[in-house]
This record gives sequence, C-alpha cells and structure tokens, in this order.
Amino acid sequence: MIRSVIVGSGSALPQRVVDNAEMAKMVDTSDEWIVERTGIRSRHIAGEGETTSTLATDAARAALEMAGIDPASIGLIVLATATPDQTFPATATLVQDALGCNGCIAFDVHAVCSGFLYALGCADSMLRSGMAKRALVIGAETFSRILDWDDRTTCVLFGDGAGAVVLEAQECADESAPGILATSLHADGAHNQLLFVDGGPSTTGTVGKLRMKGREVFRHAVVNLADVLREVLEATGYTAADLDWVVPHQANARILDATARKLDLPAEKVIVTVDRHANTSAASVPLAFDTAWRDGRIKPGDLVMFEAMGGGFTWGACLVRI
Ligand code: UT7
Repeated sequence: MIRSVIVGSGSALPQRVVDNAEMAKMVDTSDEWIVERTGIRSRHIAGEGETTSTLATDAARAALEMAGIDPASIGLIVLATATPDQTFPATATLVQDALGCNGCIAFDVHAVCSGFLYALGCADSMLRSGMAKRALVIGAETFSRILDWDDRTTCVLFGDGAGAVVLEAQECADESAPGILATSLHADGAHNQLLFVDGGPSTTGTVGKLRMKGREVFRHAVVNLADVLREVLEATGYTAADLDWVVPHQANARILDATARKLDLPAEKVIVTVDRHANTSAASVPLAFDTAWRDGRIKPGDLVMFEAMGGGFTWGACLVRI
C-alpha cells in the first residue's frame, strides 16, 4: 500500500507586522474588541514586492530544505489560493519557475480557507495513483489586497502568509506507518453569499473586495467542522481521544474552542496561531502546522488532524500520521 507522507514543511510571513493598536488607527475598533471576539492580536501584511507567489516560493524552499529534497525531484505542485498573483497563469507555475522544477505538473486549487485541505486531497490522490512521486502542497494568500480597509467587520480579521509541505509516496508496511490516512471534503454553494468577493474577471472585470456575514459563517463553521471531524474519525476507526494534535484553520479562537468542546477535545491539543497570524485563509493550516512541527510540539508518530472551513462554503478534514 502507498501512503503520502509529509517529509518536510515550511512557512513564510511578510515582514510587516500590524498589531491591533495600529488597526484602531485605521478603523473604529479596539484591541479589546478584536481580542475578545477573535483572539487576534496581530497579523502580517504584505508590502511592496511581497506577493502570493513570493511567499509561496519562500515557504516551499523552507519545506524542501527541511526534507533535504532537490526541487528537481518534485513531480507535482498544488497551490491553494484565492488571491493569485494574476487571474492566470496559475500561481503554482510562478512558484515552479522560481524553484527551477520546470516541467512537472503545477496547478492552483481554489477553495478559499479550505484550499489547503482540497490541495492535500488532490495531491494525495495523485501520488497514490502514481502520477508523481513527490509533491509540494502549498497554501498561500495575500488577503490584505482584497480587504475593504474601511470595513471594520472584516479588515481586522485577516492576514497574509504561506505554508507548504512536501509529500512523498512511500510504500507502507502496516497500519501504523506514517502518511495521510483519510481526507473528507465538502462544499455547499447555497451559502456563497455569506462569504464572497464582490468582483471577478467574468462579472465586474475587477478584483473586488471581501464581504462576510460573520455571525452566520460562525454558526455554520462550528457545526460543519464538528461533523467532518467525526466523519474522518469514523472512516479511520480512531476516536478524538486518539488524536495527538488538531491543526485547525485559524479563523477565530472562539471557533477553535467551540469545535474542540463539541468533540470533547482538550484545548491543549489544539494548535493556535490565530493570535499572531490572524486568518490567512488557505495558508493558515500549513502555517500553524509548520510552527508546531518546528517548535517540537508535533513529533514523528503523532496522529494529527487538519481541518478547515471557508467561502463557498467549503470544508474538510484530513487525518495524518506524522
Ligand atoms: O475563514 C473563513 C471563515 N470565517 C470565519 O469563520 C469567521 C466567522 N465569524 C467570526 O469570526 C465572528 O462572527 C466575527 C469575529 C466576524 C464577529 O464576531 P461576532 O461576535 O459574531 O460579532 P457581530 O458580527 O455579531 O458584531 C457584534 C458587534 C456589532 O455591533 P452591534 O450591531 O452589536 O452594535 C458590530 O458592529 O460588534 C461590532 N463590530 C465591531 N466593533 C469593534 C464588528 N466589527 C467590529 C470591530 N470593532 N472590528
């Protein structure tokens, strides 16, 4: 049996850090409101010369370095983003060219905040079916470029960044071997007006700005995430008590708490970076994973659950043995 094993991870953040006090100078908000409602204290915001592809390339380089893998041996790049450098070509091809692994498969996946889960699902299927041996799976965003900086209900919530993992197809001896064990993905277009961008190439011919009915999104997020986590646990025969870590999409500390409570998961098992990164959409799960792997919390052999929910709606979860 072949499994897709995570053999390296990396991340990249823009240089500029914007804290809540600075946000309060731009819109009618306060550090107190943002921390109490979201857990966010600061976020990184891309400056001149920093784009989705440059952040993605830096994260991918760090992941390749950790894995000790030459970019030339990468056969597949799947990049999740809702904020590509250009409408086309795919940002994955810009990253490919920067890394010098020209010729391999490279494409973008668009599932907003669940993008990394969708990208991981695609790459895992393609590796297990033999289309490639090694893949770079990247989540990268510059949401600051699609925010309405006059709208306090959204602009305080998001940040920029990128995270990446290197996946390698490995023959596994038994059930306890490392690799992706199960992935479950969902979408429901009926809710697309609760979280969307009011522009696009085929409608307005502009990029548009992010719009969100936060309270409604919150309600759906807690229910959908708890359901999909249970689904993946049932598919693999594990229980919430077996998990070493949950690496959730970092949208709001209250969503993380509510989801953990629904599953009876101790809060100490949930990786939290929303305080420093805010919501980086498709980048948030690999950014949080890389943070916890590099600081030594996540170790080889650990059972780790990734989960995310976002615009579309889209949502998903993935169980991995490290
Ligand atoms: O990544 C994709 C998934 N996204 C999410 O999961 C986001 C989900 N939603 C949320 O995280 C929360 O709903 C928010 C953080 C967006 C909002 O928190 P909330 O507790 O649901 O607040 P609310 O929208 O119900 O607003 C409460 C009040 C309102 O004032 P009134 O109408 O009660 O007078 C808002 O106008 O807070 C006000 N408010 C603010 N006040 C200060 C909204 N934004 C701000 C702000 N600063 N930045």
